[in-house]
Amino acid sequence: MAAPKRPAWQIWCDRKGRFSPLRLTVLIALLVPVLIALHDAQAISRGARPINDLIHRTGFWALVFLLASLAVTPLRFVLRYGTLIDARRMIGVAAFLYAAAHILLFVADKQFDLVKTGIEIVSRVYLIVGFVALAGLAILAATSTDAMTRRLGGLNWRRLHSVVYAATLLALIHFFQQTKSDVSVPTFAAGIFGWLMGYRLLAKYLDTQGEVPAWALLSLTVAVSVLTFAAEAVGISLAFNVSPWRVLQTAFDFEAGRRPGWLVLGAGLGVVALAILRGGVRGRRPGAPQGRVAA
Ligand code: HEM
Repeated sequence: MAAPKRPAWQIWCDRKGRFSPLRLTVLIALLVPVLIALHDAQAISRGARPINDLIHRTGFWALVFLLASLAVTPLRFVLRYGTLIDARRMIGVAAFLYAAAHILLFVADKQFDLVKTGIEIVSRVYLIVGFVALAGLAILAATSTDAMTRRLGGLNWRRLHSVVYAATLLALIHFFQQTKSDVSVPTFAAGIFGWLMGYRLLAKYLDTQGEVPAWALLSLTVAVSVLTFAAEAVGISLAFNVSPWRVLQTAFDFEAGRRPGWLVLGAGLGVVALAILRGGVRGRRPGAPQGRVAA
């Protein structure tokens, strides 16, 4: 196999060294959290705990990009845009870099005292969970280079990179555990993760080589939204000792805000609409060439 022609730092170029508008767009999108933080710099520095603010921001964006990297596989089939796969590694590595900044800020908050940091991590379950997630992401980032991909071989590389599912799950648990009151955002993120995993299961069991027909996408969307409503109702009812039915009734009180279940429904219906518009409604025949669901 010919060696890649582009120098590693030219991340806006594809493997053949040609300028890639897709890669440049993704690169800019990956830098948006930094731009937002720079824009908010004054407000952050005037806040009660600037480092804590940055810890929250980096953790949040690490999870967002982790979910975005998992969304590449469904989107490339739905949009019929195979080139999108070229962006997945960039998004995954960015997720790791934001997670690394997250822990680095945590260490800075402990005055770079590694013993104190270690003791704090092992004494709180949510930090242990975050640490294991970070270790998983570090393994994935370290094996993401072209050289490592070649050395491991396609099959081993894909097997190893399924660690991303466990790492995302742990990051979500960590997000829930550290959230003190309103769990809407983690619940929405969990719903999106459920949809992305459901897509992979459907692609596997329908044996459609990665492409999932629109009727199955619609069923998946409805099922995951219902589960999101139910999980949120059960969670709130347990935490605040109220009836889950009462919580469910608030789902239609739109003045109190959109519940995560509606947001998951909206996002899923958006994907279904894209699939119909792009003609991805039939599903690929079993055994047909092209495509495979990888992480
Ligand atoms: C050793 C590893 C980690 C440590 C020590 C750590 C530590 C923390 C701390 C201290 C907070 C804020 C808690 C609070 O203010 O009460 C936090 C929040 C958070 N962390 Fe981590 N974390 C780690 C790994 C990760 C990883 C790998 C991810 C995601 C990929 C992640 C995602 C988040 C998220 C989403 C939040 C909440 C952000 C928000 O409030 O919007 N963390 N973490």
